[in-house]
Amino acid sequence: MNYRTFPKTGKKVSLLGFGTMRLPEVDGHIDEAEAIRMIRYAIDNGVNYVDTAYMYHDGASEVLVGKALKDGYREKVLLADKLHLLFAEEAADQQKILDEQLRRLDLPSIDMYLVHDIHEKLWERAKKYDTLRFMREKQAEGVIKHVGFSFHGETPAFFREIVDAFPWDFCQIQLNYMDTEFQAGVEGLKYAESKGIPVIVMEPLKGGKLTDVLPGPIQAYWDNIGTDRTPADWALKWVANFPAVLTILSGMSTFEQVEENIRILSNAEANGLTAEELAVIGKVAQEYNNLIPYSCTACKYCIPCPVKLKIPYIISLRNEATIYESPEKIAKTVRNLVRPQPSACIACKQCEEKCPQHLPISEIMSESAQMFE
Ligand SMILES: NC(=O)c1ccc[n+]([C@@H]2O[C@H](COP(=O)([O-])OP(=O)(O)OC[C@H]3O[C@@H](n4cnc5c(N)ncnc54)[C@H](OP(=O)(O)O)[C@@H]3O)[C@@H](O)[C@H]2O)c1
Repeated sequence: MNYRTFPKTGKKVSLLGFGTMRLPEVDGHIDEAEAIRMIRYAIDNGVNYVDTAYMYHDGASEVLVGKALKDGYREKVLLADKLHLLFAEEAADQQKILDEQLRRLDLPSIDMYLVHDIHEKLWERAKKYDTLRFMREKQAEGVIKHVGFSFHGETPAFFREIVDAFPWDFCQIQLNYMDTEFQAGVEGLKYAESKGIPVIVMEPLKGGKLTDVLPGPIQAYWDNIGTDRTPADWALKWVANFPAVLTILSGMSTFEQVEENIRILSNAEANGLTAEELAVIGKVAQEYNNLIPYSCTACKYCIPCPVKLKIPYIISLRNEATIYESPEKIAKTVRNLVRPQPSACIACKQCEEKCPQHLPISEIMSESAQMFE
């Protein structure tokens, strides 16, 4: 395993971190024996960073991680957990959540504690609840050791605002070769680096979308490239190439993925990719982009919509159904999460007059309704 240095303590952190959001399941519940076997195998083979959160697997991830870290494993890792303010109705709930997390983990302290999922709305709540003061107090009590945040805000500018708001020990961003300009993006990574804040990367394989069933042209490109390196190898090494990255979290779901990701990140250096290798990844990204049916930039000029459709989100789902996911899977998301649904479109076309990309939005809504509803 390769290691990078955590500036705050000088401690060596493994380049692969174990994300526990996608643990193996049987009958809708974590396959406890297999998940513990995977986490312990990773630790036995050099992984020393384990990431969980209050909401993963409906709370069962924290319990599982607590069990996996018994029998002497706790001392071998940096344990990361997160405070999600969505679950706090008032400031006092922050303490209740932390207490519950420690109970679930069956541990007295957490090494890396993050304000979870900071975006524009939740940041307002963090200010209202004085969350940063709460974090400082818990740090002073020794219940948490290092304070960070994970980011899902919309822009690098907002990311910079958060970075500048507190003397963070670390931050966590989504980064992979298809999300270079999404949320914090590479620009955010560089900003954190300029401030000396190490970056933990989440979703390096875009949650598996860069490795699962691949669209024909992408599969063909990989097949023709003439190496035995897997898509996971290329994607993880692309992230590892950035020196500011402290560890790369992958939410591994099978034992074989753990074995493979350990192998990959035992052989990955900062600035280790050649110009030719970077060009290969650039070409794959371009191939993916060529598959995008509707080139929405999420500028939001199209909203507000008279019937309150979340137009950019629906278009992103429509695009995903062609590139990354099966339409059936997207349909489930649309049925469960999207309100109003695309069929609510009244084809008034006000949005189309404002769209700088001149997208046929009412047609896309109608197509999405047929595909997903
Ligand atoms: N703080 C936050 O807001 C936040 C948000 C998201 C994630 N996270 C954390 O970050 C972690 C990492 O994110 P992620 O789980 O999305 O990581 P990821 O590595 O992008 O996605 C994990 C998925 O990729 C696939 N995969 C992993 N290794 C593979 C390999 N060697 N070959 C082929 N496929 C492979 C698996 O999908 P299949 O099994 O489907 O093939 C796996 O479930 C999470 O587990 C969680 O701990 C935090």
